[in-house]
Amino acid sequence: MVKICCIGAGYVGGPTMAVIALKCPEIEVVVVDIATPRINAWNSDHLPIYEPGLDDVVKQCRGKNLFFSTDVEKHVAEADIVFVSVNTPTKTQGLGAGKAADLTYWESAARMIADVSKSDKIVVEKSTVPVKTAEAIERILTHNRKGINFTILSSPEFLAEGTAIQDLFNPDRVLIGGRETPEGQKAIHTLRDVYAHWVPIDRILCANLWSAELSKLAANAFLAQRISSVNAMSALCEATGADVYQVSHSIGTDSRIGPKFLNASVGFGGSCFQKDILNLVYICECNGLPEVANYWKQVIKVNDYQKARFVNRVVSSMFNTVSGKKIAILGFAFKKDTGDTRETPAIDVCKGLIGDKAKLSIYDPRVSEEQILKDLSMKKFDWDHPAHLQPTSPTSNNQQVSVVWDAFEAVKDAHGICILTEWDEFKTLDYQKVYDNMQKPAFVFDGRNVVDDKKLREIGFIVYSIGKPLDAWLKDMPAVA
Ligand code: NAI
Repeated sequence: MVKICCIGAGYVGGPTMAVIALKCPEIEVVVVDIATPRINAWNSDHLPIYEPGLDDVVKQCRGKNLFFSTDVEKHVAEADIVFVSVNTPTKTQGLGAGKAADLTYWESAARMIADVSKSDKIVVEKSTVPVKTAEAIERILTHNRKGINFTILSSPEFLAEGTAIQDLFNPDRVLIGGRETPEGQKAIHTLRDVYAHWVPIDRILCANLWSAELSKLAANAFLAQRISSVNAMSALCEATGADVYQVSHSIGTDSRIGPKFLNASVGFGGSCFQKDILNLVYICECNGLPEVANYWKQVIKVNDYQKARFVNRVVSSMFNTVSGKKIAILGFAFKKDTGDTRETPAIDVCKGLIGDKAKLSIYDPRVSEEQILKDLSMKKFDWDHPAHLQPTSPTSNNQQVSVVWDAFEAVKDAHGICILTEWDEFKTLDYQKVYDNMQKPAFVFDGRNVVDDKKLREIGFIVYSIGKPLDAWLKDMPAVA
């Protein structure tokens, strides 16, 4: 029986391995992690991450050919293929701080693999890593190998949170990069055979190691760039009276452009886009390409601008002050159908409003109070470390923030509402009831364009929808970004 071990039981490792186990019943898959609470959760009825369809997949194979364990060394030693899906945070100190990837966790995983291995192994990079990481990992492995052969592959993951199971079942492509040597090619075939259990062979792309590594950074940079492009347009739409929805629709029908990733919003979030672009920027700078680096840097700058612009709209619309005013925050996750809050735009928006002394009442159907308070007190980039190694800073804004478990509780007596995640339930709230329970004038700032702005205006709300023609009220109180 082929044995697979995956180091890192996170958003990528957990779902990816669960699907491999489901589709390959003759392969034993063990997911290991140094975080005991996370492994305990994977072994319980309350999985540590929320993904539609994930519970079902795990239930079908856990205990049969899918296992979760903290005994990292034992399972790595026994595996034929070792996936590494550990954190690759942005460095906060030293060379490349604020941009370069911190490979501490990757390197320690590689050294451990070298230490405990007693048989030949294929080591697969699943984490997103800077170009040429495989070379560095290969060096660590071969210098410590004690006669064992390690073949390194890069197989970056393209799943999107919220649709991870669907994406894994039916991927646009699976990418496998390896060395152009006989051993490299043999390893590529071994991994290709695993995916070929359910992925059509023409969707399994093979490449060299560097192309595979760079493709992942490039894919995320392109996706994020589309969002920043449409968000940049949204600012222009507001200034000119055009409707960004109509503009997106018109350009999206051009088959060369396509309709996806053209929704204007308060900004992109998630653990990958910003981190991967910063990483790309750093690599460009290191390779003497400042113009290329600056081009990609702009994608992040526009994203930050969009969040700041949103906060300025809220404050300026409400007579230039939100001090002491209750603002309901509907949605905190970085997008719907996930409980993930990493780099969610809600953090910067909430911090901006707290900075203007607002009182926030936050509701998200999938994010706990503990997580929200932690996110609002953590420094930039500190979130991307294993839970027990995350630096803790004192929670200073407890007085200004409350977290509630019901949208109506959040909006009660509020002066304004900010919709920051596109959860379906925010589309269908009884907005008449919401209005009746709020202070007047009642404001809705829709950061995801989910509400029917016309209907809300009929009820009496003053509505701001990103990139849409402005209310007369808002026109009189222009936001300076
Ligand atoms: P995560 O933070 O959810 O999971 C990483 C896990 O690795 C943590 O549970 C941590 O405790 C564990 N870990 C760290 N060092 C370890 C070690 N030495 N031994 C055992 N366990 C260790 O991160 P996530 O989201 O799963 O991402 C992992 C990688 O995949 C990152 O490089 C990320 O950029 C990439 N990625 C993430 C995607 C996403 O949607 N979240 C999509 C595609 C790639």
